[in-house]
Amino acid sequence: MRTKYCGNIKLIHLKKIVKLCGWVHKIRNLGQFIFIDMRDYTGLIQILFEFKNNKIFKKALNLRNEYCIQISGIVQRREKRNINKKIKTGEVEILANSLNILNTSKPLPLNYTDYNHDDSRLKYRYLDLRRFNILKNLKVRNQVTYLIRKFMTKKNFLDIETPILTKSTPEGARDYIVPSRNYHGKFYALPQSPQLFKQILMISGVDRYYQIVKCFRDEDLRSDRQPEFTQIDIEASFMNANKIRNLTETLIKKIWSKISNVKLNKFPIISFDESIKKYGSDKPDLRNPIEIIDVSKIFQNKEFISYFDMNCNENNRVGLLCIPKGAKISRKNIKVYNEYVKQYNSKKLFYIKIIESNNNIYNTYSSIKNILSKKIIEQVIKKSNAKEGDILFLIADQEHIVNKSLGMLRIKIGNDLNITEKNNWKPIWIINFPMFKQDINGNFSSVHHPFTSMKKNHEKKFQKSPALAISESYDLVINGYEIGGGSVRINNADIQKKVFDIIGIEKSIQNEKFGFLIEALEYGAPPHAGIALGLDRIVMLLTKSDNIRDVIAFPKTTSATCLMTNTPSTLDSETLKELGIKNIKNNK
Ligand code: AMO
Repeated sequence: MRTKYCGNIKLIHLKKIVKLCGWVHKIRNLGQFIFIDMRDYTGLIQILFEFKNNKIFKKALNLRNEYCIQISGIVQRREKRNINKKIKTGEVEILANSLNILNTSKPLPLNYTDYNHDDSRLKYRYLDLRRFNILKNLKVRNQVTYLIRKFMTKKNFLDIETPILTKSTPEGARDYIVPSRNYHGKFYALPQSPQLFKQILMISGVDRYYQIVKCFRDEDLRSDRQPEFTQIDIEASFMNANKIRNLTETLIKKIWSKISNVKLNKFPIISFDESIKKYGSDKPDLRNPIEIIDVSKIFQNKEFISYFDMNCNENNRVGLLCIPKGAKISRKNIKVYNEYVKQYNSKKLFYIKIIESNNNIYNTYSSIKNILSKKIIEQVIKKSNAKEGDILFLIADQEHIVNKSLGMLRIKIGNDLNITEKNNWKPIWIINFPMFKQDINGNFSSVHHPFTSMKKNHEKKFQKSPALAISESYDLVINGYEIGGGSVRINNADIQKKVFDIIGIEKSIQNEKFGFLIEALEYGAPPHAGIALGLDRIVMLLTKSDNIRDVIAFPKTTSATCLMTNTPSTLDSETLKELGIKNIKNNK
């Protein structure tokens, strides 16, 4: 039906006859001439209908926005004053000599030149996709998956599909459940990840597996979370953590180089513990150079415990942020920051402004000056390496409160004062996560998933004092986003059962839920390790999108609905009966 695409026509095509298919993007009727911008997925081209070609001109008078058309015509140069530098075909236009209206269109519910409410964009996703902003992200996504497949195939990884109708795979979220028609009262779960299948593939001798795969998690959604999202899932036998990280790092560098033309340096590696201490988070954004500085030692004296209103039975910390050139922050803004850290349960945010510094003699303005001796203030300034014109923000509280509060304040101030280098890329590996976390009732749960192996020398520790056991695990973080996570796996059935015991899974449930894995581990399971990367998050970063929805063709709302298909939806009573399901309450 066509000989060329709209967006590809250039000066080299001058005087050629072309046939194009696409949509009417914009119409201008100047009496003697009608100009339309015609669009297909490659871009826009201007079409000209002349009054003197009366038959087609009359037809063109019927055109409206978004009519689907086919035209043919001759490529001609635009007059100099009419060149449109905003589009790639701006130097040429097509003088139409035939017009075929393939389909008409109702007036659009979206305004292509203005802001549209998110709900209408999602309801009319097919119309929103006709604009180039989302489409260009989908093109990047396609380039990324192409690169991944090429890379993984070259490295001898097999692309193997795993089931979607399956059993629960614990990754920390609720499952999406599918009822069985044949077995009333029994259910499939949609996979939160292919974790168990990829491990089983290792036991079956596959050696190297990868898959670009949909995962499903029923959890609270955020700007970087969707209920169904895509992982680049990788697993290999006889590979240690280092090898998996190197492979992943090479892949990520390749993607960044090809898509963004950026050469990433070797990714730094820090432990979970160091990350929490320095950045108050296991997803640090290193585009912001500010770190939490520990000054607990300076405040060891008992008088400070009461001054800072700390409970000496708790694990306390005194930490601070040194903000370069922050002394100019107004009292009003300091108040805002004080309120901000209260959200994270901090009692108070103290500050010290370094007004002048001369040979280790400091003139300061501070909210604690009256209480702290000159010597203490000097020690704090020295420890923080603060310079004249800087401000120190200090919190003394329970350790986890100090970490969280200063970690969040670091991000806020980094953005407020433009300290965070928005156009930079800062990947980092976080390794050595604890095996378990404990809730207030003392119950343990896995920090990664329960199939994660402990570090070699922690095999004894993990049984005696699980809280202290460290896992052989790693997360990849770029610019503050967790884009991947993985670990070495447990390949011993007894250790696997002990982990289940520690996290409180009863023996009968262990057998019911994971019996197949435990049994498989008993048949010569090889050492194996792997990782899963979040494809959507990678594309979100590469396209500099604010929301993960902008890199997914048909995303869900934050309440996990699809406004276009009106999903989830009710089922008729016949279908429910067939599935053996009774609606007990329908309050939504
Ligand atoms: P994890 O749960 O860390 O690990 O997931 C891996 C990566 O998937 C992405 N991700 C998400 N992206 C969008 N929306 C979501 N709701 C969402 N949840 C996770 C993140 C994350 O880093 N089986 C293990 C991997 C392994 O051990 O090999 C797993 O799924 O980028």
